[in-house]
Amino acid sequence: ATAQIGVTGLAVMGRNLARNLARNGFTVAVHNRSPERTRSLVDEHGDEGRFLPAESMADFVAALERPRAVIVMVKAGGPTDAVIDELVPLLDSGDIVVDCGNAHFADTRRREEALRSHGLHFVGTGVSGGEEGALHGPSIMPGGSAESYRKLGPIFEKIAAQVDGVPCCRHIGPDGAGHFVKMVHNGIEYADMQLIAEAYDLLRAGLSAEPAEIAEIFRGWNSGELESFLIEITADVLAHTDAATGRAFVDVVLDRAEQKGTGRWTVQSALDLGIPITGIAEATFARSLSGHADQRAAARRAFPDAGERWQVGDRETFVEDVRRALLASKIVAYAQGFDHIRAGSREYDWGIDLGGTATIWRGGCIIRARFLDRIRQAYDEQPELPTLLVAPWFADTVDDGVPSWRRVVADAARAGVPAPAFASSLAYFDALRAERLPAALIQGLRDNFGAHTYHRVDRDGTFHTRWAADRTEVQP
Ligand code: 6PG
Repeated sequence: ATAQIGVTGLAVMGRNLARNLARNGFTVAVHNRSPERTRSLVDEHGDEGRFLPAESMADFVAALERPRAVIVMVKAGGPTDAVIDELVPLLDSGDIVVDCGNAHFADTRRREEALRSHGLHFVGTGVSGGEEGALHGPSIMPGGSAESYRKLGPIFEKIAAQVDGVPCCRHIGPDGAGHFVKMVHNGIEYADMQLIAEAYDLLRAGLSAEPAEIAEIFRGWNSGELESFLIEITADVLAHTDAATGRAFVDVVLDRAEQKGTGRWTVQSALDLGIPITGIAEATFARSLSGHADQRAAARRAFPDAGERWQVGDRETFVEDVRRALLASKIVAYAQGFDHIRAGSREYDWGIDLGGTATIWRGGCIIRARFLDRIRQAYDEQPELPTLLVAPWFADTVDDGVPSWRRVVADAARAGVPAPAFASSLAYFDALRAERLPAALIQGLRDNFGAHTYHRVDRDGTFHTRWAADRTEVQP
């Protein structure tokens, strides 16, 4: 028997992907550096489908039908390179290596180029949905050649989550496009989680409510426009009680948010491309800030009473204000994320379809939400949309939310409750819609101290004022 596809690297994600493939009727060759994992997969789940276990890489490769398709599911970085180096000499022209880890798209571009020179396809593939997703249907974002997708597409589309009969998988674009889109997905995931966390914090401070009560508010929100996996699990986490202490779980967890780095990569890439993804950046920095325990302790001692007492008027109005502010801020974060994808696609000539990307995020992935169907619709109707904020439904929703958004951000500022992502999203919105920005003054200053020149509103050309001399304007 030969396998249609192989998986090497059988830690939980690889193992679950292999099981998902087998459950969907594919014969799967499986391999792991230490063979115990391969054995336990077959022992525990061998009855779920057809697995061809192999203990050596050579046997693993030999078990695959041609062109061979090998999924590599090991840690990003060095371990991925090590597995690729071991695989390449065993493969033949036309074979496909699929990296399903969270690799940096620049690494994927490098690997794709290197494998192409051996006549091999390298397919950097974003996979979202965590362990459960990998097993029951993730969102899959494959990059690499169109030719490789002819083999992989039917397999991946079958094992992916399905929404309205549409698989949450499509070919994103060449070389690093898939990993780039997965990176931005994770950046948006950071922003979404930060906004949710701020909403929780505001509700808690404003209402003096316990986590279990706030869980109920989120549960309610989950049946409206905010409906999403993250809102659903927020209710779950907030309602959870710590068995050891009987206290709310969220109160016994150390308030230091960790990160593996995909949010940071997103911000770094956006800086390179000049795309203001302020929501994702605030979220990433908020995680960093949370980890600076010494600075936090020092500041707490220095400024114990810097905020004012928070007096919420009508509780229901306040909850609705927070909901609208959350939705508006979330729209900003997604608008920025999609801007980022468009910029990456232009820079690297990937031809990424924004509506298509939203389509495959509707299910399977961590940011899956009702909302994404609206994004799909917006970009399908108008692929050159200047910003998601101006698409009809989004424009109306933001417009409706503006008074709430301003009240929440202003109240939070007065009370001294940090809401960096809410506040900076509102500032982004106001900056985008401003008639004039103080950027003009910055240009003036640059010209004053460094003769960096400026443009005028009334005439074409590049200008400089001789600030230190007679202050006449010249065209250098
Ligand atoms: C997903 C997740 C997944 C993982 C993140 C967590 O889409 O399934 O994004 O990739 O949970 O890597 O990232 P942090 O550790 O950086 O929060």
